[in-house]
Amino acid sequence: MIRRIVLALVCAFALHSVANAQPLARIASPDGANVVEIEINGEGRASYRVARNGHAVIAPSRLGFLLVDAPKIERNLRLTAQSTRRFDETWEQPWGEQRRIRNRYNELRFTLTEQTGQLRSIDVVFRVYDDGIGFRYEFPDQPPLRDVRILNELTEFNFAQAGEALWTPALRSNREEYLYYRTPIEEIGVTQTPVTLRLDSGLHLSIHEAALVDYSGMNLMRIEGRGLNAILTPGIGDAAVVRRAPFHTPWRTIQISESAGGLVESRLILNLNEPNVLGDVSWFEPGKYIGIWWQMHLGTASWASGARHGATTETALRYVDFAARNGFNGVLIEGWNIGWDGDWFGNGEEFNFTQPYPDFDLERVTAYARERGVRVIGHHETSANAAHYENQMEAGFALYQRLGVRVVKTGYVSDAAGARVNAEDGHVRFAWHEGQEMARHHQRVVETAARYQIAINPHEPIKDTGLRRTYPNWVSREGARGMEYNAWGNPSNPPEHEANLVFTRLLAGPMDFTPGVFGMETQSPEGVATTWAKQLALYVVIYSPIQMAADLLENYEANPGPFQFIRDVPTDWEETRVLNGELGDYVTIVRRDRNSRDWYLGAITDEQRRTLSAPLSFLQRGVRYRAQIYRDGPNADYRGAARSDIVIEERTVTSADTLTLELAPGGGQAIRFTPLRRR
Ligand code: NOJ
Ligand code: CA
Repeated sequence: MIRRIVLALVCAFALHSVANAQPLARIASPDGANVVEIEINGEGRASYRVARNGHAVIAPSRLGFLLVDAPKIERNLRLTAQSTRRFDETWEQPWGEQRRIRNRYNELRFTLTEQTGQLRSIDVVFRVYDDGIGFRYEFPDQPPLRDVRILNELTEFNFAQAGEALWTPALRSNREEYLYYRTPIEEIGVTQTPVTLRLDSGLHLSIHEAALVDYSGMNLMRIEGRGLNAILTPGIGDAAVVRRAPFHTPWRTIQISESAGGLVESRLILNLNEPNVLGDVSWFEPGKYIGIWWQMHLGTASWASGARHGATTETALRYVDFAARNGFNGVLIEGWNIGWDGDWFGNGEEFNFTQPYPDFDLERVTAYARERGVRVIGHHETSANAAHYENQMEAGFALYQRLGVRVVKTGYVSDAAGARVNAEDGHVRFAWHEGQEMARHHQRVVETAARYQIAINPHEPIKDTGLRRTYPNWVSREGARGMEYNAWGNPSNPPEHEANLVFTRLLAGPMDFTPGVFGMETQSPEGVATTWAKQLALYVVIYSPIQMAADLLENYEANPGPFQFIRDVPTDWEETRVLNGELGDYVTIVRRDRNSRDWYLGAITDEQRRTLSAPLSFLQRGVRYRAQIYRDGPNADYRGAARSDIVIEERTVTSADTLTLELAPGGGQAIRFTPLRRR
């Protein structure tokens, strides 16, 4: 009761604190800081605006739709109904970067109705949180709007202040795998989401979407000034989205934080997704894996059959032994099945998901693994031929389930717009990786896999929009330049890359980045452009419930010191906090192990040498901890032999201490904190 009164007072205060003419509707976040107002101008065009602590953040920005062969929904609108509601719950993730999550928001729902023509109407729902905003459109069933064919959304995001943006180009051939641009907002082109901004006032924003279901992915295009417009990924026909009412769009999200780290701590995107529909998923165990993988990217082994074939029974058994000895619960095996010979990039129709190559004994390898407490991680490369895959995936999952496989990495290698899908007319058509058809495909895969108790980790995926909350077997994905670019990329990932990812791609959800490489010379001219300490720090900085130790086994066998951190670090967390960070520059993240009282710290920097301060106040008070520190050595640098200059040392610390982290250019630091037994 008291809380309700306080809430009401706070809301009332916030509503009055934003000076504005006469919005038709308004709603404030539970803490009162974020306020959304709705207006309709003289032409009947609706817009929303956002303020934080009384300062404009999003200037009036339009809402609406362009339709195929029907008038757009954007003019002559009137606000014909509105209602508000409050929500507050705390829910638990079966696995994750944070166990308990508070989902608290104030909601405004309103109806926009045309005053002329067909008198069509749509609902718009805003959920306003302390850490940002989500809004979506809902299409009720009505005779003039039954079969809806959306050409594009007219949603705008007009930033009220100048600032800098971190963004990656959208709708280009390498799909989601581009380097980041850091430019003034006015120089954004066509960008993927999440796109993240630092406004001149110091406020940080990130625009993305939540719960992308049966709809096409949203990109953003700058039109003029500091305004971005939605641009939906094209569909397979003339519409980007084809739906039958009633339906709703994904949530359009604006995360808002005073600090860059606050964006990483925000759970807005998960909160805007529907709760778990799969029930108990305890059959999925977070963990770490090794794999027959890096050798193919280095070019020393092949996916294809022949003398250089990587996935042989003998190699697989050696990997299982290594995993069992070192506490890895998974071994990924790529290139095990028929279909890799010739140009596998274009081999969509050749892949067979149940037939191993003759030199790979699938039954023997999986049994050998099971006996040693290890599971094979399955692999289904589809070359983006979703149509072909859908004919076989059920058989593929059934086989894997019988053999004890619990995680399958899928792959959609092809240039953008080169995916192939079964269209409703029975034809196979080319599609974009983030169009509506592929959104449907991924959902079918995840739902089918769940029936076989299999978790999915797609590469060249559709973007992450937090659907792991609803489908907790959708455990990780790629969806940005990962470690593989350091094997053959020209250029490889630059030292700032991971500090960019943390504040963009990783805000969307877990990434199968595959860190942990100690062999720094590769086919790429720059090789792996980080220090060893940074490779270790990435296990904490990049969240994924499954983390690969990507390197060749001999590099781990030769370097037991730094390898110890990879053996120790968990992948399932009770709690996550960001100690410091700035877009594209540096970040320090600490996480508490879900299954012990240990804390882990990861700090990374870009190409700049940095000294960061890490107050240890997150540790339990009054407890002494052993800190096992893996830090850059005095000569460490992301170039040449200096990459392996690492110092491993131990200290005793308490929550009253503050550590000074010295990071080399392209460097990092990883620390494990273990409580010491009280005497
Ligand atoms: C691209 C994936 O990102 C990579 O991890 C995989 O090895 C290849 N495709 C082959 O499936
Ligand atoms: Ca890839």
